[in-house]
Amino acid sequence: MKKILIASLSLFLLLACTQEDKKESQGLTQEEINKENAAHEQGDHVVDASIIPPMTEQEKQQYIDSAKVIAKTAFDIFSAHLKKSFSENHPAEALQYCKDNAMRITDSLSKVYGVEIKRTSFRLRNPENKPTDQEDKIMEIFKQRIHKNLKSMPYVHYDNYGNPHVYLPIMVQDKCLMCHGDPNKDIPDDINNKLAELYPADKAIFFKKGDLRGIWSIKFPKKKQAENK
Ligand code: HEC
Repeated sequence: MKKILIASLSLFLLLACTQEDKKESQGLTQEEINKENAAHEQGDHVVDASIIPPMTEQEKQQYIDSAKVIAKTAFDIFSAHLKKSFSENHPAEALQYCKDNAMRITDSLSKVYGVEIKRTSFRLRNPENKPTDQEDKIMEIFKQRIHKNLKSMPYVHYDNYGNPHVYLPIMVQDKCLMCHGDPNKDIPDDINNKLAELYPADKAIFFKKGDLRGIWSIKFPKKKQAENK
């Protein structure tokens, strides 16, 4: 049981490559965030943003730091599990395991940390990881920055429900290519076959090292906001 939990968590964490980009990560300035919010959020707020006091730089950093710890935990669990799975079994079996446990891992992590954790992308493998409109907008901002050779960065704001919400970029590394790279070149046949079986509508291939793969989307409870004051 414990093994299963760990394994599932690992899958999740894979996504957390973010952590390894830590050195590159920089918070957006408040001005940039305001500008992006104005450009991208058009009147779909459930909460009147004017009644939420702006997040201080210190609060922003606290949320980003916590989100990074959570993503790193997930990533470490995932990496440990994958390594074991690859040394002991056929790699394709690791896929089956991930498919069966990814959601459970997220749920468990969310409970442990008291936050809502999601991993999503603009090119999905598992349709259940579908992004919200807001997450789509954030990924677009990240993509534009990467396109302009600007460093990747975490993004934090109060979401439409007034919850502090952190988004961390997930970048493609060499080690991701065997499952997310070019099926003709990077992905071994047994994995290609298993992917076709498990994810017939898979769009998460043809990624290259340094591409944006997706984001961690981590929503904190409102009370944390008050605690931080
Ligand atoms: C052993 C194969 C394997 C490797 C290696 C791998 N992934 Fe994945 N990845 C998967 C599978 C399988 C899923 C779908 C999990 C599910 O069903 O939720 C997935 C899903 C994802 C998702 C969630 C969005 C989606 O498309 O459903 C992200 C983000 C992601 N992977 C990023 C990465 C990154 C970044 C790396 C490298 C650090 C990586 N993966 C390495 C197999 C792999």
